[in-house]
Amino acid sequence: MARISASVYTSHVPAIGAALDQGKSGEPYWQKVFSGYEKSKQWIKANPPDVVFLVYNDHANAFSLDLIPTFAIGCAAEFQPADEGWGPRPVPMVRGHPELAAHIAQSVIQDDFDLTIANKMDVDHGLTVPLSLMFGQPPADDFRWPCAVIPFAVNVVQYPVPSGRRCYQLGRAIRRAVDSFDQPLNVQIWGTGGMSHQLQGPRAGLINREFDRDFLDRLIADPAALASMPHIDYVREAGSEGIELVMWLIARGAMNDKPPRVVHRFYHVPASNTAVGHLILENQE
Ligand code: DHB
Ligand code: FE
Repeated sequence: MARISASVYTSHVPAIGAALDQGKSGEPYWQKVFSGYEKSKQWIKANPPDVVFLVYNDHANAFSLDLIPTFAIGCAAEFQPADEGWGPRPVPMVRGHPELAAHIAQSVIQDDFDLTIANKMDVDHGLTVPLSLMFGQPPADDFRWPCAVIPFAVNVVQYPVPSGRRCYQLGRAIRRAVDSFDQPLNVQIWGTGGMSHQLQGPRAGLINREFDRDFLDRLIADPAALASMPHIDYVREAGSEGIELVMWLIARGAMNDKPPRVVHRFYHVPASNTAVGHLILENQE
């Protein structure tokens, strides 16, 4: 049977991708950010997943205001990088896992969550920056990402966006789906985005260290209660783009009910306009 062994949480700041792609990762500003991922890269080498179920949000690259799926699951065999701003990143094509993705879609939809099936979908920095942070930057032209990835896009860009509670419950449905897949796959689930940041309006540049610290504490220790936090609290405390954090609740909801083992925790301000947060949690059997 397939099993979710661990969850990974990380910001997905596009400027991190640009720093890597433009060879700026050694600059002191970026060194402080990347230092927080050294342990993560060692950990994932020692604990290689077969599949990463990667929860992220599209930033109007795959979808536009023409069509706004609340939850879209990538069921294709491959996904091409695309991006606004700096343009598509020079990173490898992302290999999917159509069989597991189709199984999860079947199970989760029958479990009352309405997913959009994406059989063709480009993936932006929301997905590729976390891959670079965890697996490192492609060292050679023939580099391939070391595992399959199921992209799971969540609308946190255009209101109305899903509640934290729904995201947490969806995570539990994803766990049931993975548990019932009849292949011995080591699956990790990643939640990306956040932490506090606001890119627009009079409060642009907002960072709230206290909120972020508290969010990390509660995500580890009491995610069910954290999931009841209403949208307005995210927006007021963590800024308009801080709402990306509801995606972390999907990953946390997919963990089992025992207290997780905290493998790694990192927090740093700033990276571009955001506070960078990062956690690795392992399931205890
Ligand atoms: C920034 C952060 C994001 O999460 C994003 O999607 C775009 C920009 C930023 O910090 O600039
Ligand atoms: Fe974002």
